[in-house]
Amino acid sequence: MHSFEEIQAAAALLRERLGEAPACALVLGSGLGGFADELERPVALSYKEIAGFPLSTAPGHAGRFVAGYVEGVKVLAMQGRFHCYEGWDASQIAFPVRVLRAYGVKVLLLTNAAGGVNTDFRPGDFMLIRDHINLSGRNPLVGANDERIGPRFPDMSKAYDPALRELAKGAARDLEIGLHEGVYAWFLGPSFETPAEIRMARTLGADAVGMSTVPEVIAAVHCGMRVLGISCITNLAAGILDQPISGDEVLEISAKKRPEFSALVKAIIARIGAEDAALAGMPRGAAWRS
Ligand code: HPA
Repeated sequence: MHSFEEIQAAAALLRERLGEAPACALVLGSGLGGFADELERPVALSYKEIAGFPLSTAPGHAGRFVAGYVEGVKVLAMQGRFHCYEGWDASQIAFPVRVLRAYGVKVLLLTNAAGGVNTDFRPGDFMLIRDHINLSGRNPLVGANDERIGPRFPDMSKAYDPALRELAKGAARDLEIGLHEGVYAWFLGPSFETPAEIRMARTLGADAVGMSTVPEVIAAVHCGMRVLGISCITNLAAGILDQPISGDEVLEISAKKRPEFSALVKAIIARIGAEDAALAGMPRGAAWRS
């Protein structure tokens, strides 16, 4: 686990290289990283330059922060994320999130590619994450707890901020982009699930499955950030159709949906920017109020 001092040092580097912290940071999922190239007046900082930072190895993931503007609102994108299936410990995945919080970011918008478990979903649909189920057996908060970062036993009953979800639904409505809302189940991967595992996930209440997002969400809620999650359903999960699932298909569909996804994310960022004054009051007990 990284120390409080390492987190503060990395945050200081972000401040020095990328300027004042934006209200909102984005974690870009598989095939969606290109969104960072659409930011206006971009400034990048490679993960390689940050002491203690993991380096992403997953296909479709670069490894850098890009700060820039969307309709005049500053935002920071993580172009490249970390997954436990790459061999990272869940606590290492918490580090970038904690660095963002120490830098001053209050809202974390996470995106991912996911398999549709809900049989009403179609490839290319979007789903707002209402809640998650952790089926990985991993948790980024295992180990000693530093109270300066967050509490030992953080509440997860509203992990996906209800007000931000309403804001996202409003943005989707205005753009006439369909947006389901549902529960995301985290499987460790990297093998795709079996049909029996998908039936189990559906019985447990999952609408989508994926191999990311949940460790970042747990870390973000722990350190007092407000979280929004959006899945791009790239395929129907195992066993729904009589056809294999491939990583190439996941990247192909998420890349194809990028224009629509970009429009939705931009509209959400613009709204967060507009409501920043109202959102500035952090609802949770956080050690890092700014
Ligand atoms: N399972 C797990 N992760 C995924 C899937 C899936 O079907 N599709 C995209 N990411």
